[in-house]
Amino acid sequence: MGHLEILGGPALSGTVRVGGAKNAALPIMAAALLAPQPVELRGVPRLGDVDTLSRLLESLGVRVSRQDDRARLETVDPTPVKADYELVRRMRASFCVLGPLLARRGSAVVALPGGCAIGDRPVDLHLSGLRALGAELTTEHGYVVARAPRLVGATMDLTGPRGPSVTATANVMSAAVLAEGLTTVAGAAVEPEVVDLGRFLVALGAKIEGLGTPTLRIHGPATLGGAAHAIIPDRIEAATLLLAAAITGGDVRVEGVRPEHLGKVLAVLKAIGRRVETGSNWARVRGGDRPKAIDVTARPYPGVPSDLQAQWMAVLSLADGRGVVRDMVFPGRFMHVAELKRLGARIEVVNGAAHVTGVERLGGADVAATDLRAGAALALAGLAAHGRTNVFGLEHLDRGYERLDEKLAALGARVRRVPLA
Ligand code: UD1
Repeated sequence: MGHLEILGGPALSGTVRVGGAKNAALPIMAAALLAPQPVELRGVPRLGDVDTLSRLLESLGVRVSRQDDRARLETVDPTPVKADYELVRRMRASFCVLGPLLARRGSAVVALPGGCAIGDRPVDLHLSGLRALGAELTTEHGYVVARAPRLVGATMDLTGPRGPSVTATANVMSAAVLAEGLTTVAGAAVEPEVVDLGRFLVALGAKIEGLGTPTLRIHGPATLGGAAHAIIPDRIEAATLLLAAAITGGDVRVEGVRPEHLGKVLAVLKAIGRRVETGSNWARVRGGDRPKAIDVTARPYPGVPSDLQAQWMAVLSLADGRGVVRDMVFPGRFMHVAELKRLGARIEVVNGAAHVTGVERLGGADVAATDLRAGAALALAGLAAHGRTNVFGLEHLDRGYERLDEKLAALGARVRRVPLA
């Protein structure tokens, strides 16, 4: 796999385009299991996670053809119901096949998921939601075994201890589309990616009210067909590129975005002293002063995403003063702290809060990505650090960022992929 070699220093400048959202593409591709006719998707990013899910769907009888950012998914064999551990363990989003399989094929056997090592990631809300619809679920030998010859609409609340669950909402919403009668889901996630999945289901023929609000009303069973759908732009990729501008004191315009999905991120960029401009489908960040120190707390949408918490910590490592970073979604998601410290950051984790005292300069070092977003944070820190930074663990980065190194290089970063010797 090799590593990323970064010679830090240059302020990034120029224009860059983002791809489709990973976290929308994955549940939407999984929901294609529901469709009796072919599904045509645009804006499907070329990512390790998308490859993994494509393989899983193929093992479930779905023919997946991809070209550039397009994917065509067609069920050719509706009989398989087992999602194997080998593929599910690589990525938590694989668990999103559970709801569609159960609803369309009447049963499902899905390995308990793996994914990023970012802390406790239970699936109780997925299971309780599907149980409320009438499914019988047991856990046997590391697999969830689900049966439901018939699903019936129900009223449920999916609020977890730390807020709503994105993928549990996806699983339950996808299954409820084929349940008889009305399903009312309180405590639904309102992330744009969940809304995009809802819009896809509606395009297939589902009747869903309340998308983007915490209460969904799903009228079933819907008669579904095929659909064509364009995936929303990736707000996490967009924000990561804007933070790359911010940390290097550069001037970057990111195109193909929905600025309304970046509200809180742009507000925090302003708060650290950056100039922010937006248009209908672009956002630009510039300004070269040392970032102002602020506190950042990751929360469910519309808050600062947990998927950007590590990248913010990288930026605050160079701030003029002290800030506190908290993550209310995954409170233990601080594996990047030790690696940022190798670059010279001053961070102390006390009672689940990372206290970041900005330093004037970071120095290049060898570091390892422990998860996808930690990898992005280390790349950002490397762009600003003096000297050479080698980021190992590229397989994490490639799971969720499409050609991040090439996009950064096009903005003037001195970055290259060094293949394994
Ligand atoms: C999704 C995203 C991930 C992002 C996360 C939070 C995808 C494929 N992944 O992950 O990139 O970091 O949202 O925005 O979209 N919880 C429970 N019980 C459950 C499920 C979740 O208690 O059954 C808790 C989790 O431990 C966590 C919180 O709810 O504290 C949010 O998790 P959730 O929204 O489910 O994250 P994912 O959907 O796994």
